[in-house]
Order: sequence, then structure tokens, then C-alpha cells
Amino acid sequence: MLSNLKAQPADKILTLMAAYREDPRPAKVDLGVGVYKNAEGVTPVMRAVKEAERRLVETQESKSYVALAGDPAYADAMIGLILGESVARDSIAAVATPGGTGAVRQAFELIKIANPAAKVHVSNPTWPNHVSILKYVGIEAVPYRYFDTETRGVDFEGMLEDLGKAAEGDVVLLHGCCHNPTGANLNLTQWQKVVDLINEKKLLAMVDIAYQGFGDGLEEDAQAVRLVASSVANVLIAGSCSKNFGIYRERTGILMAISADAETPIVQQNLNFLNRQNYSFPPDHGARVVTTILTDPELRADWAAELEEVRLSMLGLREQLAEELRERSGSDRFGFIAQHRGMFSQIGTTPELVEKMRVDSAIYMVSDSRMNIAGLNDKSVPILAKAIVDAGV
Ligand code: LMR
Repeated sequence: MLSNLKAQPADKILTLMAAYREDPRPAKVDLGVGVYKNAEGVTPVMRAVKEAERRLVETQESKSYVALAGDPAYADAMIGLILGESVARDSIAAVATPGGTGAVRQAFELIKIANPAAKVHVSNPTWPNHVSILKYVGIEAVPYRYFDTETRGVDFEGMLEDLGKAAEGDVVLLHGCCHNPTGANLNLTQWQKVVDLINEKKLLAMVDIAYQGFGDGLEEDAQAVRLVASSVANVLIAGSCSKNFGIYRERTGILMAISADAETPIVQQNLNFLNRQNYSFPPDHGARVVTTILTDPELRADWAAELEEVRLSMLGLREQLAEELRERSGSDRFGFIAQHRGMFSQIGTTPELVEKMRVDSAIYMVSDSRMNIAGLNDKSVPILAKAIVDAGV
């Protein structure tokens, strides 16, 4: 029976990771998967994470099951981090999930239960796994215009026009900050217009927030999701601790649901049910580390400070790369790199030129020309700039 299986489509980000590993060239540059690397090319364990883990090893007395929704203290801490005081705690249902991807998957399944006819409107482009999971769970993904390949900013008029065609009960999937893959983001005035449209058309808003703290700061990056959560009737939020706590492999995420027209306990019970069906109890270690950090003022301050260093180093690399490209190309056409925010920028070139840079200069970026800025350092910036200009981007 298993002989009926056919090969599944390859994930382009993970395929690139494997190709990079196999490349013997010493000067290769990995700008593929979204993982932060410091100047030495290492993805470090953050200081506060180390300390929280040390405390856990010393004090944790049991590894017994916790609860289907995960530890309530984790939900409280994450709701505080992402939503602040924007929404009353008792109107939020929340479950811990295996990473942000787990939250995205559970959100789509909840949508499927609540409204099997709903379509999910996704930015063009979006994180490829959004589209892949939607297809897998049997929900139609409808792209809306987002990235303007001329300006490398947001095609806001196009976005509103496309979302205006959504049907009542459909879902709009938005990136809370640091848009993946483009790095181009809405400003708050534009977010307000999107919220108005969502309300007018009676749509559900789903916000994926996986990079809080990587854009303009922890609080600044949460402003859009807080606006949506406090002003749209039905909201799903998929949050991730992978990047901002640097605990990628611990799989630590959260799904929140806020509804003005449903009873929170019923929504909560559905989220618990989905956890039970898919993996039963969510992973606990990463969640406990995060809770330890967020509830201890000293650890929290140290974590926020280290995260800020990471954010500023990425901004510095953006500036350096934009400047290096300005000099080498003799034009300002790469200025957008310094304007983009988050881990990624899409330089907006063809898969052929991306491949040319891989073959000629050992530069690994995703075929849609997304590059992970956090994969750069002082030494690789000039190599990349040269490769971009030499390839004729
Ligand atoms: C990425 O976009 O590179 C990250 O979100 C990692 C992943 O799972 O794809």
C-alpha cells in the first residue's frame, strides 16, 4: 500500500539548506533559512535562555504532562508580550503549539471547522509554507497583491483592491511585522485601512507574528497586531518564539483566538481539541524557558537587551549592504534594503540570476530572491554586493 506514495513537492527553503551544506567552497554565504547568525557565523543560545535553562534543571521536579493548552502561565506571558493590554485576557483563547508553524497549522484547522467554505487570502508573496499547509488541509489560498517589484515596497492600492473582493467569512492572513519573504511592511495608517476593510467586509483577520523584536523594537513590532486584535471581531494570532528567543529547535509557539461573537470557553475547548487530535500535549521545555524569562524582571531585561543587539546588528548590515551596493552599482536602486525591516529582504530578481549567484559566487538565497540579512556579516557583505552587481541584478 505504501507503494502508492508519490514524492512530495520539495520545500524550497529546506532544499536550499541541504544544498548549502553540501557545497565544498569555503567562501560560501548562507542567506537561506531564517536563522540569526552572529558575526562569527554562530547561532548562539541567548544569555537569558541559558540562565532560564539552568534554573529549570535545578528546580524542575517533574516532567509529567501539563495541560492540553500548555502551561497557563506561558499563555499569560505570551499574551502580555504580543498583545500587551490591548485585549481583555478573559476574551482570549490560547494554546501552546509546536513552534509558529504548529500555530499556523492549528489556526487553519480551526478555520476549516468553523467555516469549511472560507478561503484564506495570502499576500503575494508569502512564506511558502503558508500556501503549502493551506493546500494540505484543503483550504483555498487566494493571493492578494502585496510586493511591488518596481519599488520593492508594498503595493498598497493593489492590496486593498484585491482584499475588497474577499467574501464575508473569508480570512485575511497578515504578517504582524517583518514580512516574510519581502521585508516590506505596512505603516500604521495602512494597517488601519486594512482593519477598516476587514470590518466592512466582515472578514476574519489572521496575524502571523514570528519576528517580534527584529523590526523596529519589541513594542513597535507589536503595534499592528494589537490594533487588529482590539478592533476586529474575529482574530487568530499565530506567534513564534523561535527567532526572538533563538530557540528554533525547541518548537515554541502559541495560537490565540479572539472573538466578539463566540463564547471564549467554546473556542478554547476547540483549540484544546485540535491539540489533542494532532499531538496531544504541546512541547513544554521551550515554553517554560520563555515563561521563566518573561516573568523574571532581570532575565527579561537581559533578554530584551540581547534581542535589541541582534536587531541593531541586522539594521547595521542593511545599511552596510545598501551603501556597498550604491558604491558598486553607482545607483540608489538598492536603497530599499535599508528601508526593509526584519530578517529578510527580497531583492526582486529572477530565479535565473539567483542561480547564477549561487553557481558563480556561492551565494545561497531562496529562488524568489529572498535573502536572510541575519546570515550576513562584515566580511560577507562586500562579497554579496559584488555578486549582486556582477550577476547584473
Ligand atoms: C524561514 O522562513 O526561513 C523560517 O521561517 C524557517 C522555516 O521554517 O521556513
